[in-house]
Amino acid sequence: MPPNLKLLTSSTFRLGAVYLTVFAISVAAILGYIYWNTAILLEQQIEDTLEAEVQGLAEQYRQRGPAGLLDIVNLRSRESEGGVYILTNAIGRRVAGNLPALPAEAVGERGVIDFRYPYETASGTVQHTARAFFIQLDGGLRLVVGRDVEERRRFNVIIRTSLLWALGLTLVLGIGGGLLTSRNFLRRIDRINDTSRTIMAGDLAQRMPVSGTGDEIDRLSSNLNDMLDQINRLMAGMKEVSSNVAHDLRTPLTRLRARAEDALRSDDPEAHRTALEANIAEADSLLATFNALLSIARAEAGQAREGLHPTDLVPLAGDVAELYGPIAEDAGGRLDLDLPETAIVRADRQLVAQALTNLLDNALKYGRDENTGTPMIRLSMEAQPGGGQAIIVSDTGPGIAEADRERVKDRFVRLDKSRTESGSGLGLALVDSVMKLHGGKLLIGDAGPGLAVKLVFPGAPS
Ligand SMILES: Nc1ncnc2c1ncn2[C@@H]1O[C@H](COP(=O)(O)OP(=O)(O)OP(=O)(O)O)[C@@H](O)[C@H]1O
Ligand SMILES: [Mg+2]
Repeated sequence: MPPNLKLLTSSTFRLGAVYLTVFAISVAAILGYIYWNTAILLEQQIEDTLEAEVQGLAEQYRQRGPAGLLDIVNLRSRESEGGVYILTNAIGRRVAGNLPALPAEAVGERGVIDFRYPYETASGTVQHTARAFFIQLDGGLRLVVGRDVEERRRFNVIIRTSLLWALGLTLVLGIGGGLLTSRNFLRRIDRINDTSRTIMAGDLAQRMPVSGTGDEIDRLSSNLNDMLDQINRLMAGMKEVSSNVAHDLRTPLTRLRARAEDALRSDDPEAHRTALEANIAEADSLLATFNALLSIARAEAGQAREGLHPTDLVPLAGDVAELYGPIAEDAGGRLDLDLPETAIVRADRQLVAQALTNLLDNALKYGRDENTGTPMIRLSMEAQPGGGQAIIVSDTGPGIAEADRERVKDRFVRLDKSRTESGSGLGLALVDSVMKLHGGKLLIGDAGPGLAVKLVFPGAPS
């Protein structure tokens, strides 16, 4: 579509045109009303006064006869300001009044007429317009009573032209303004369209233009940009996960296959059995890894966000500790609890329980006291400034070197010294995404000696 036509068919322009029409009609109505009041009504008034005066004079004529009327007409001709009078006899001769002759328009019985007459000024005679009422009296007398309306006539012309100008100007300004705003609007929409086409063509780094005025289009653009950022993050996450999965699952799957092949080659039933058992264990660990990956993906996609409800963390921690206390004791260690009465935050029970389980599992596996060789674990809570809560799991083990504390939150990261333990390096990654989903933080610190892992939950917004 040619650009001009596009402008005319744009919704902004159409909306503008409707507004303009309504506006122009209102302006015309208001101006028309003003004109009616100033010009037409005044004219009506003049006519009414003239008619009343003529009736009055006719009455005088009936009472005092021609001589009386002649006197009054002569008197008024002299004294009235802007009044024009003439009284003519049966043969059309003037007998009284200030008009030189009977206006040619005054034919018939009676009526209202407009006529031109010579008006004396200091610099000479000019033609003026008068409006008059005339009446035919008995005996062939004709009486014309009028007012000089020259000034009013000029005034009317001025009013009429100003009103037309005002209407014209309104239309021009309205149409111009409408075109300008819709062109500006269209240009911005076009830029957004162009950018989306570029993005669809594969340039994912492009962002919608934001003018900085904070208006609707700006808000639309920044929302689209936020959406694109989120899509980018999800896509990057997906890419990372798939390459991680491809890389880290290949080893156990290869192992599984090799073990099965070996067993097939052997005739020893005992060897078959051992291989099957080992493969089942391997498959379990693979399943666990898949489940962890799925949980992370779900938490990261923010799907579980609807699952956030006011939750008391204390009984939740108690339940998890009840499972892990006996395991710690079996290993010759302890799980000490130091919990407050209640600690209520918005949380997803299931995910927080999973996160706690991961932390206790780590403490059991890697947090064994370096002197006693047994896990000495402490589970405590701490109210945060601003209404938040923190769960802290600490052990007295070797801890994690400062340089590795961020890195271990990534997927599939396991520190070298832990290779002897089973695991896939997804535990802390899941804890991290669970905390992000809650709008909180996973902090890994030093328990001196040992590791202190802190899950910080934000307070509910008031
Ligand atoms: N309490 C701890 N003390 C010392 N090192 C730890 C502790 N917790 C975690 N780590 C280190 O951080 C690494 C990452 O932990 P993470 O829980 O993410 O994976 P994992 O325990 O190895 O495997 P998974 O949890 O998936 O079974 C661990 O391999 C270990 O090296
Ligand atoms: Mg772990």
